[in-house]
Amino acid sequence: MNSSTHGNTQIVLKRHPEGAVSPDDFELVATGMPEIADGQVLIRNLYLSMDAGFRHWMTEGAGDNYLPGMQLGDPVQSMVLGQVVKSRHSDYVEGAYLSARCAWECFSVLDGSDLAAVIEPEPGVPLHEYMSLLGPTGMTAYFGLMQLGRPAAQETLLVSAAGGAVGTAVGQLGKIHGCRTVGLTGTEAKAEWLRQEVGYDVAISREADPDLAAALSRDVPDGIDVFFDNVGGATLDTALGQLSERARIVLCGAMSQYEQERPEPVFNTWELITKRARMEGFMFSDYADQFGAAAATLAGYYRSGALVSFNQVYAGIESAPQAFCDMMHGASRGKCLVDLSEA
Ligand SMILES: NC(=O)c1ccc[n+]([C@@H]2O[C@H](COP(=O)([O-])OP(=O)(O)OC[C@H]3O[C@@H](n4cnc5c(N)ncnc54)[C@H](OP(=O)(O)O)[C@@H]3O)[C@@H](O)[C@H]2O)c1
Repeated sequence: MNSSTHGNTQIVLKRHPEGAVSPDDFELVATGMPEIADGQVLIRNLYLSMDAGFRHWMTEGAGDNYLPGMQLGDPVQSMVLGQVVKSRHSDYVEGAYLSARCAWECFSVLDGSDLAAVIEPEPGVPLHEYMSLLGPTGMTAYFGLMQLGRPAAQETLLVSAAGGAVGTAVGQLGKIHGCRTVGLTGTEAKAEWLRQEVGYDVAISREADPDLAAALSRDVPDGIDVFFDNVGGATLDTALGQLSERARIVLCGAMSQYEQERPEPVFNTWELITKRARMEGFMFSDYADQFGAAAATLAGYYRSGALVSFNQVYAGIESAPQAFCDMMHGASRGKCLVDLSEA
């Protein structure tokens, strides 16, 4: 599907997903090119970020202190990276690259809110990295791990959804800080990739080790020092049962819960007391005023080769529903992106 300059193309929410999200929950629609008013810019989107967390706000009646629930017929929200094609906003010049929380669409109107940030690509760094390791994904991994996880050398860092966008970055950052890293994932093929390519010391798959408690007793006999949790539910509960003293649990996401009708209970909270552990949630946007410094640190690791970016890129806006479902259900590796730059 080409985006012409005469019209816009969007993927809208056709029905609220129930249980596992499906490409049939979305619909591609052609709309008019949006007009901009004073204080606004029009961007042509080049990359769409497939963000697991947005699944939560697709559910009927969703909506909370952070974001309202998505409405039927609305373009699906995501982080996007685009280039300004028209500007009536003094902060954004034509040709500038911007990232923002926007939608699955070829053109978007921004007013500087919704996490809008100017991107100044460094020579030699592919633009899509600013939607991946050097963008919101990298920020999530970096601030969650460094501010809440506070890893120290020789500590054991456990990461759930270790083969995903955030998880691949957290595991590598843990290695940079001298940790022994243990990743959790779905399949044995992905676990092997985590060991061989991503650099996890140990990878445990649900396929080979359906009993996570037994696998952790085997592979983390001295207890978990830092748990970076992207999954929640029973995985979190099991990990809480195997903490070392003064452990830190970083609540980043709850993949296992987004498609459940009811949240699963977590029982092992007594362990937080006896182990003097600390469990804390965060949103990457909490650290927006420090993004520049973090991006510079991550870019340094990236340039030196200490931090590798793993991306799975789909082409064309029509591929966004499938890309999102693949990412949600473990069929993608690393950061899942949709490339609109050829449209
Ligand atoms: N707090 C924040 O500011 C923030 C920002 C960004 C993302 N997040 C959160 O970080 C987490 C990861 O996001 P991401 O965008 O990087 O996604 P991702 O990890 O690239 O993709 C999600 C992965 O979760 C795993 N998964 C799916 N269902 C699962 C289940 N029932 N049990 C265990 N694992 C399951 C799948 O991998 P495998 O099954 O193959 O392992 C899937 O590929 C999400 O929970 C997201 O909401 C938080």
